Amino acid sequence: MSVPVSFSVNGPVAILRIQNPPVNALSQAVRQGLSDGMDRAEADPDIKAVVIVGDGRAFIAGADITEFGKPPMEPFLGDLCARIEGSPLLVVASMHGVSLGGGLEIALATHYRIAQPSARVGLPEVHLGLLPGAGGTQRLPRLTGANKAIEVITSGRQVKATEALDMGIVDEIKEGDPQEVGVAYAMDLIAAAAPRRVVSDLPAADPIDWNAAHEGALQKARGQLSPGAAVRAVQAASELPFDKGMQRERELFMEMLQSDQSRGMIHAFFNERAVSNLPELKGVTPRALQAIGVIGGGTMGAGIATAALLAQLQVVLIETGEEQANAARNRIEGNLSGALKRGKITQEQFDALTTQALTVAVSYDSLAQVDLVIEAVFEDMAVKKEVFGKLDAVCKPGAILASNTSYLDIDEIAASTSRPADVIGLHFFSPAHIMKLLEVVVADKTAAVVVATGFELGKRLGKISVRAGVCDGFIGNRILAVYRTAADHMVLDGASPYQIDRALTGFGFAMGPFAVADLAGLDIGWMTRKRKAPDRHPEERVPTYIDKLCEQGHFGQKTGEGYYLYEKGQRASVPNPKIPELIAAEQAELKITPREFTDQEIVRRYMCAMVNEAAKVVEEGIARRPADVDMVLLFGYGFPRYWGGPLKWADLQGLPAVLADIKRFAQDDAWFWKPSALLEQLVADGRSFEDLNRQGAK
Ligand code: 3HC
Ligand code: NAI
Repeated sequence: MSVPVSFSVNGPVAILRIQNPPVNALSQAVRQGLSDGMDRAEADPDIKAVVIVGDGRAFIAGADITEFGKPPMEPFLGDLCARIEGSPLLVVASMHGVSLGGGLEIALATHYRIAQPSARVGLPEVHLGLLPGAGGTQRLPRLTGANKAIEVITSGRQVKATEALDMGIVDEIKEGDPQEVGVAYAMDLIAAAAPRRVVSDLPAADPIDWNAAHEGALQKARGQLSPGAAVRAVQAASELPFDKGMQRERELFMEMLQSDQSRGMIHAFFNERAVSNLPELKGVTPRALQAIGVIGGGTMGAGIATAALLAQLQVVLIETGEEQANAARNRIEGNLSGALKRGKITQEQFDALTTQALTVAVSYDSLAQVDLVIEAVFEDMAVKKEVFGKLDAVCKPGAILASNTSYLDIDEIAASTSRPADVIGLHFFSPAHIMKLLEVVVADKTAAVVVATGFELGKRLGKISVRAGVCDGFIGNRILAVYRTAADHMVLDGASPYQIDRALTGFGFAMGPFAVADLAGLDIGWMTRKRKAPDRHPEERVPTYIDKLCEQGHFGQKTGEGYYLYEKGQRASVPNPKIPELIAAEQAELKITPREFTDQEIVRRYMCAMVNEAAKVVEEGIARRPADVDMVLLFGYGFPRYWGGPLKWADLQGLPAVLADIKRFAQDDAWFWKPSALLEQLVADGRSFEDLNRQGAK
């Protein structure tokens, strides 16, 4: 195996060049290479300084995350940092690309840091449920003060070189080849007889109100623990001598590393990358994408068009008439003004996107040259088929015809065209220019190249794309329907919608299911219940108390009244006093004696319903792997990232316990709680969903 750290000499300067693509993670071999390189440089009496530099696109992206959870291997990163800092030679870090986590910790252990103007530094460990574990919490505050260190560490954000210079994290910024820049800097320092500057020798940061900082970090983290632990580590840097502070950091780091939260977040880190890697698409070249068509400029069509414009695609949007076309243009311009306000685009880009890149038309003839069309008209099969018929007639051969339908059968839509191999589902989430998830729904006849192009579009739009099969609701909406029902059942049995929302935000969801229902519009569920009523199984329990509110014209946030009451223009809400009365009336009618629920039971039932349906989705091949389902819930449904997703959560609870609960719940409602065969099989075999992920497929 080639050594990932090369050693070379330029006059009195030794160069340790890290070559561990793609991002120079600090694997055991890299740590060993750096340690050996330091030994070699120190053994040569002609060497006065060492420059550490990265090859390729980054200085160092941090510890090698693939090594977490395996037995630690020497040299340990903390010891390597101490070894570098304690070297009698002058050690310089020349930084380009990113220097993250352990990468910045190595740099902080050197005596001088020089960075490219485009370089970025950060300690993103909190995004993995961790905190810096090789001195980051001890050295950074000695350079920046406690408040700035806490902000950088608890946000995990990437700091640009100029800001890093202002904060004292880097000493110089210079453009050029990183190795040449580093060597020239080292030569200058030698010539100036510059002293070794040892960060751990600097005075400790002044104290701040530590409890307030801890409380603030916990509040922002919404149930995630590591930002709070990071504050305590910085506190130790201020209150304890350096070596004792390092010990405290280590203890807190190990505590976090062994937590379920870091397991969940590391699962999320790898799988948000792995999810778009489909073995069957290896070697399949996607079709070219320059111009796309969007049919319908309502909520979704306008959002999809905005996302495409921001990704530098030409967009032709079709509406039914002049008035609708104007409304669509206004929606898109509104979305783009948001991007302008947030500094994502300049005024010139805004002007170019709205004039040159966007065409809004009423005639389908304008679609003759587009490479891909996304239909986002009303959720009605007859309307969709009519649209696809027109698209089939006007679109050029090879153009991809996609539907953004939430529930409808893509096979049936495809069959209504003369080119079913070119038809696919591209299911975006609202608001489509903001939400990260894209379900790529593959129908029976969809060609591999069309699937590959769907994923390519997702990548261009900055989405996390997940492959889904055809069924009612695909992956996400199908599972949503089931856990929503579990919540409704609990309301019938005695838990209030407000307790349920509170229990689930306490678990880490961004919003509870009833607040979400108000946001999405209660009319959607009402219509669905009416549509499904004729075919309903007699054992199916469906609460209808909320329909009474709909009958009075109250549809949630948009009308100011739903489960909650909304003051005009405000997002904050108060419980609607009509709701308990409506629930009580229905309970009386159904002869239900309401009972108490603990928050714990609410979470357990909700999660078990989600896991059971998610397992069925994997079992039926609608999702390729359990982790695909996890990413759908994480990026489309506000599932707390620190649990990794519902199936990771299930693994962490232990599958036998989850299955036992499902069976216990089934004693009262066997119709709803039918255990997934896959879940039963995994429990029988003593295996986990993670085993299926590793296997690559079920
Ligand atoms: N360890 C192992 N693999 C890593 C890695 C790391 N630290 N960082 C990135 N990778 C892998 C990715 O998994 C991906 O692999 P794949 O191609 O097989 O999917 C590959 O490198 C490229 O990564 P991206 O696709 O994310 O490339 P980008 O250019 O978009 O982003 C990045 C690069 C900004 C470095 C991003 O990968 C990133 O944020 N990485 C994580 C950085 C991090 O969290 N560092 C802290 C680690 S914890 C630590 O250091 C603990 C210490 O304090 C003790
Ligand atoms: P919407 O009602 O806001 O917009 C639909 C638009 O389509 C209207 O502007 C209408 O004028 C236009 N339209 C209707 N028939 C047309 C035709 N023949 N040609 C051109 N334009 C036509 O609906 P929304 O919410 O944007 O939903 C659209 C589709 O996206 C539906 O299939 C829906 O299920 C799906 N979807 C909706 C999500 C949501 O959160 N709203 C999320 C994901 C998918």
